[in-house]
Amino acid sequence: MSWTKVLAEGALSPGERQVVNVGDRKILVLNHEGKLYAVDNVCPHLKLKMKKGKITPDGSIVCPWHRSQFELCSGEVKQWTPWPPGVGKVMGMVSQPKPLPVFPIRVEEGSIWVEA
Ligand code: FES
Repeated sequence: MSWTKVLAEGALSPGERQVVNVGDRKILVLNHEGKLYAVDNVCPHLKLKMKKGKITPDGSIVCPWHRSQFELCSGEVKQWTPWPPGVGKVMGMVSQPKPLPVFPIRVEEGSIWVEA
């Protein structure tokens, strides 16, 4: 893991977000109420994009596909929306709750940095 300069300081106002490349990862950097967060841009369920996920008032990001919720600061599962039970055992296995990877983020020397 190493720190990568991803954006200029102040590039994201509250409510704004941007996907950045860090190595071979795509990381969603967002400003929620003045605080910066860096989370994986793919959901741990089916690896679908999180970029358009809504933020709840208590600071969770909602997967736009199945509405699972993950805490922005830790990535812990706050609510998991499992695959419908009728689709069988294999799909049930991929539906086990998994946290959303989150990454350290800091502002220094006029830039936003992410460690991944
Ligand atoms: S793809 Fe995100 S919860 Fe299913």
